[in-house]
Parts: sequence; structure tokens; C-alpha cells
Amino acid sequence: MRTQVAIIGAGPAGLFLSLLLERLGVESVILELHTRKHIEERVRAGLLEFNTVQLMHELGVGDRLRRQGLEHGGIELRFNRHGHRIDFRDLAAGKCVTIYAQHEVIKDLVRARLATNHPILFETTEVLVHALDSTAPYVTFQNGGVSERLDCDFIAGCDGFHGVTRAVIPAGALTVYEREYPFGWLGILAQAPPASKELVYVHHDRGFALLSMRSPEISRLYLQCAPGEDLAQWPDDRIWSELHQRFATDDGGQLTEGPITQRTVTGMRSFVVEPMQFGRLFLAGDAAHIVPPTGAKGLNLAVADVRVLAEALGAFYARGSSDLLGQYSATCVRRVWKVQRFSWWMTQLLHRFPDDNPFDHRRQLAELDYVTSSRAASQSLAENYVGLPV
Ligand code: FAD
Ligand code: PHB
Repeated sequence: MRTQVAIIGAGPAGLFLSLLLERLGVESVILELHTRKHIEERVRAGLLEFNTVQLMHELGVGDRLRRQGLEHGGIELRFNRHGHRIDFRDLAAGKCVTIYAQHEVIKDLVRARLATNHPILFETTEVLVHALDSTAPYVTFQNGGVSERLDCDFIAGCDGFHGVTRAVIPAGALTVYEREYPFGWLGILAQAPPASKELVYVHHDRGFALLSMRSPEISRLYLQCAPGEDLAQWPDDRIWSELHQRFATDDGGQLTEGPITQRTVTGMRSFVVEPMQFGRLFLAGDAAHIVPPTGAKGLNLAVADVRVLAEALGAFYARGSSDLLGQYSATCVRRVWKVQRFSWWMTQLLHRFPDDNPFDHRRQLAELDYVTSSRAASQSLAENYVGLPV
């Protein structure tokens, strides 16, 4: 087989890249480890930045998003049992964010991709990338019990944090920046109407909590927990009791309970590799960086990377120019670090750390008071949350 760009991974990075390339007349083949059903059902992110929503409409994959997405013009920060609204439309030039589950985005993108008649090879195993420092790289893999070889001009490593592409880059060629947090998130999906129309981020003595949603009938709730928390220790009663305590306010608003249909524990880390390129291999999305979910940025950052990559590949094929490809990593990394900074800032502002002392606690509360009372400070939060300009 031969194509122009071999894309490893059909997550948001790989699928958006394929549609952006298609629009520029550049061919690609996508190799994906899992089945279509698996990637279309995997529950993950839920919040789309303004730019990500715009891009879905531009690519013609925004129909269901337009009908089912929930536009949010603000969030609530809750501390000391009181809520404080950050009004995005007022503070971020009329912009808003949209709640629409990542697996719904995946369904829309997979359908559009398959309609182009260019393949996604599902259940592809033993993917190996070769000759990255030549102008003729290639990928070998197994598909349907057959060993295959895909020749290409470029390889896009869009295979997530645990993928194979980053791992083949010689250690000396990359610098890794990493921080692990001493806590995780216990996340649930519950068949319960969300208790608030907008997301609620809670700072509480017992730890952080977040109310999000998937629809007017389904709540998505998170609780700060230990990094490797044992879900067996969390029967439904304990989860609801902990959530009620953390969300409690003096004005008596109540969380709505309902059957819990899904529960997971997620670790939290910040991670960046530089450069995001080795020869003809370009890393994008979680393959190159991870942010803690407090800023709701992972998916959106993956989309920002592949916009840059698609434009650079487009310039290569249209004009034979490698300039933008040469600048790919530097261009992406500027945004990546700003998003890392924001995600870290939200995380340190809202969570309890095991080594907290009373000073840290008072400082967090002072910062929350400042963020919610100063227009300049709330504006900074708002412009980062809705998404920095592309
Ligand atoms: P992935 O989505 O991980 O896709 C990688 C793909 O590559 C997968 O389909 C995988 O199966 C495939 N793959 C892996 N290895 C191979 C291989 N060897 N060969 C072939 N294919 C392979 N982000 C937000 O923006 N907003 C949020 O609200 C948010 N909330 C989150 C909540 C949770 C609980 C979690 C876990 C994450 C959240 N994120 C959020 C992060 C977001 O889900 C990720 O950043 C996003 O999925 C990254 O997309 P990606 O395409 O880079 O990687
Ligand atoms: C989600 O809806 O899953 C979600 C929303 C906001 C976050 C993280 C996760 O910061």
C-alpha cells in the first residue's frame, strides 16, 4: 500500500487531521488498534472550545453537534459554600464553550472519513514505523491476520499517550517535561438531571469536585480521590454522600441523584515532549503532551496541533515548501505550554494537596476570591477556558 500521510490512531487528533488533509487534497490512511465500536463508545472528554466547534462546522461534521451540543456561556467556581459565576460571553468577547461528548465527536468524524472512501484500518496491531530519517518512511503492521506494509511520505503519530510512535524516537532526541499529581479523579455518569445548567468547579476542604453533564438527563460528576483509588471502596452511597458534602451551599441547592451507569478513576499528570517531531514523524495530541483535565483542554489541544500539521503538509504538497513543517514543533509548543500553564493553574487552585499547610489553604481561598472579584483576573480565566486564538 502507498499513501501520502500515514496516520497512526483514530482519536480526535488522527481523525481531524484526516479530514483537514482531505480538504487540502492530501491523501492519508489511518491505522487504528481498536474496533470502530470501541472508539465510538469510549467515554472521555466532554467540553469543546469555541475553536473546536467552529472547525467541526467548517468541516461539515457539525450537524448533530448543532442539535445536541449544550452551549455554555459561563462556569461557576464554588468555595466557602458560595457560588461565583464567570461570565464568558461578557469576559471573552461573546465566546462560549459547548458540552458534547468526545465519543459523539468520534462518531461524526468516523462517519465523515468513511464517506470519503479513504480507509480507516481498524484492529491494526503490531504497528512499527521505519526509516523516519529518510524521505521514504514506511509502516509495517498486522491487519486481519495479514502482514502489511504502508509506504508514505510522512507519518503522523496520533496514537495517544500509550501509543507506539513516541517510543521509537531515540531517547537522546527528545526532552521530556513531566509532573505527576498526588491525586486522581473518580468520575461517574449518572442518570440524573444536572443540578446546574453550567459546570460547577468546587474547592472544598474534603477535596475538589466538578459537576458536568452529557445531556439534560445525564450528569457527569468528578471527585478528587487518591491516584490509584480502589473503586471497590466506593459503593454508590459513599459517592453520593461525598458529592453532597462537597457541593453543599448555604443557599441550599441540592445535587440530583440517579442510577450510576459508569465509574472510572483517572490519574492526573502534566507531560510534554520536545520537539514534537523526529525526521518524517510528527507527533500530535496526547502522543506529545498530557494535561490534567481541570482545564478541559486535552481534546482541544490535540485539535490545535493537527490544524498546524495539516497546514504545513498542505504547503508541502501545494508548493513544495518544507518551511512550515520545519516550524511545526515550535509553533505547537508555544500553545502547548500556555495550555499546560492554565491546566496546572486550575489544578493547583482547586485541589487539596497531601502536604497542604494552612498557609496554602488560605492562599488558595484568597486567589479564588481575587479571581471571582477582579474583572482582570476573571477575564484571564475566561479567555483561556474558551480557548486561546488559533
Ligand atoms: P486518543 O484519544 O488517545 O487517541 C489515540 C488513538 O490511537 C486511540 O483511538 C487508540 O486506540 C489509538 N492507538 C493507540 N495505540 C495505537 C497503536 N499502537 N496502533 C494504532 N492505534 C493506536 N479533554 C478535553 O479537551 N476536554 C475534557 O473535558 C476532557 N476531559 C477528560 C476526562 C477524562 C476522564 C479523560 C481520561 C480525558 C479527558 N480529556 C479531556 C482528554 C482527552 O480525552 C484527550 O486529550 C484526547 O482524547 C486526545 O486525543 P488524541 O487523538 O491525541 O488521543
Ligand atoms: C467533562 O465533562 O467530562 C469535563 C468537563 C470539564 C472538565 C473536565 C471534564 O474540566
